[in-house]
Amino acid sequence: MEKIGQSNRFAGKVAVVTGAAGGIGRATCERLASEGARVVAVDLRMQDLGPAVAAVAALGVEALPVVADVAVAADVARYVEEGVRRFGGIDLLVNNAGIEGVVKPLEEYPDDVFDRVLAVNVRGVFLGLKHAHAAMKARGGGAIVNLASVAGITGNGLIGAYVASKHAVVGLTRAAASTYPAAGIRVNAVLPAPVETRMMRSLEEGFLPGQPAALKQMMASQIPLGRYAEPAEVAGVIAFLLSDEARYVNGSLYTIDGGMTTF
Ligand SMILES: NC(=O)c1ccc[n+]([C@@H]2O[C@H](COP(=O)([O-])OP(=O)(O)OC[C@H]3O[C@@H](n4cnc5c(N)ncnc54)[C@H](O)[C@@H]3O)[C@@H](O)[C@H]2O)c1
Repeated sequence: MEKIGQSNRFAGKVAVVTGAAGGIGRATCERLASEGARVVAVDLRMQDLGPAVAAVAALGVEALPVVADVAVAADVARYVEEGVRRFGGIDLLVNNAGIEGVVKPLEEYPDDVFDRVLAVNVRGVFLGLKHAHAAMKARGGGAIVNLASVAGITGNGLIGAYVASKHAVVGLTRAAASTYPAAGIRVNAVLPAPVETRMMRSLEEGFLPGQPAALKQMMASQIPLGRYAEPAEVAGVIAFLLSDEARYVNGSLYTIDGGMTTF
């Protein structure tokens, strides 16, 4: 991997990253901090945020860990408030927290798991968009990236709740992108294919119980680049979309899929 942090695109900026303890979230915290952003790192448990906060601190940048459930309105309002109180405002938001649910055909899919996947993946993004608006507007604008997925533009009957939730993230991205520029805020989505994180380990086991390595090989063989993405490769595109280099990019859906959806 190339050396990151060679530019300072986010000097003076404050970024909120949800799901910051996870694979893509942590890589995104590091990437944004390496380019100067102070980071509000949000996740469900304080102890899980330790490595992300330490990685940011190692770059000589301040990170504020905040325990919050993105599906709970009061928690989302609080992560915004805490960021504003500590750093003076918020400029960037990465709506990254997400869960995969279970691997089961729709006709057997548990109702409660469906509801939880929608609550975290859709309500969480909605609440992030809603509560960040005023704080970003007060700074004269900002930029938001939502984590959708290739499952936001393709179907898979064994992860129906996840597919529905990521299609909804695409919808929310387009809805916000049509009005948020009035407050100086751009909104885009990234759509990764499989990324090397806990989530794929869980899905591999779900799709082919007991043979996750075989499933991984099968998945990778359907990707023209022949492998999963690294979290840092996703973080790099997120950083681009949050940066001023993408100042005319709004409402876009960036696949990061090694060509997987070209078939
Ligand atoms: N890994 C992939 O292959 C892949 C592909 C496409 C999209 N994505 C999306 O990228 C995002 C990050 O996924 P990842 O691969 O890093 O997974 P991950 O499981 O490593 O990280 C997800 C993080 O979100 C946190 N989280 C879950 N529910 C939360 C809640 N209610 N409130 C706050 N935090 C919560 C988890 O604790 C975890 O730290 C997700 O939205 C996921 O759907 C992942």
